[in-house]
Amino acid sequence: MPNSQRPLADCTLQDLLPQLHLESLDPHNPVVVHQVPPPWRCLGTGNYAAVFEHPDYPDQVVKVYAPGRSGIEDEREVYRRLGEHPAFSRCDASGDTFLVLKRLHGVTLYDCLQRGVAIPPQVIRDIDAALDYARRRGLFPHDVHGRNVMMADGHGLVVDISDFLKATPCRAWPDVKRAYQWVYRPLILPLRLRVPYFLLDGVRAGYRLFRRCWPRNNTVVPVLADRTQHSEHEP
Ligand SMILES: Nc1ncnc2c1ncn2[C@@H]1O[C@H](COP(=O)(O)OP(=O)(O)O)[C@@H](O)[C@H]1O
Ligand SMILES: [Mg+2]
Repeated sequence: MPNSQRPLADCTLQDLLPQLHLESLDPHNPVVVHQVPPPWRCLGTGNYAAVFEHPDYPDQVVKVYAPGRSGIEDEREVYRRLGEHPAFSRCDASGDTFLVLKRLHGVTLYDCLQRGVAIPPQVIRDIDAALDYARRRGLFPHDVHGRNVMMADGHGLVVDISDFLKATPCRAWPDVKRAYQWVYRPLILPLRLRVPYFLLDGVRAGYRLFRRCWPRNNTVVPVLADRTQHSEHEP
């Protein structure tokens, strides 16, 4: 049967999963993708899963959880509660270890920083509005940081909602906004600076340490955030 008539979930089960090799080496760093069967391509990785595209399905992606990583049921439930909203993805189908999601055509703010792509204030406002919408649906925005939000055509999108059932406080998004206001707008934006990945990852690690030591202190200005100790998604 041609791919166009096969649901992406079937394709995932038959073609992707049997030949895919991904591994979570360290819970604080993105999973490692060792092998992807062509023509599948890895679009991005997080600390729990990797996301893949197939050229025959331009409007969907497949998020595959690494072996041993939990949280897929929560993510399914968050998408169920979110319903349709332009700033969020949508879960179209799922299996034991994967979700078929609506593809968001954007660039993460993390990658924007590395590429020197300007992030206008509208992006921050859109993400704020999307998080308010999530709260109105009974959810708790959690772990909203530079790798989990995107910019597309000058607008903001939220790409990872997997921790939104956790009612524990999370400073990630307020900290990103503070960094945007006090570091990004006055310094990085006007100078069109590119921030190399090693520096972004260093800030990420430093921020995690900072939040471990001072979980309630919110006066320091980190550039990017990561899952904090409040996250139960993080073992
Ligand atoms: N719906 C999507 N459309 C396009 N890219 C996506 C989508 N979901 C995730 N991605 C990409 O995959 C990366 C990892 O996905 P994410 O959901 O953050 O995984 P994790 O839960 O492990 O943190 C994201 O940073 C983003 O680059
Ligand atoms: Mg993520």
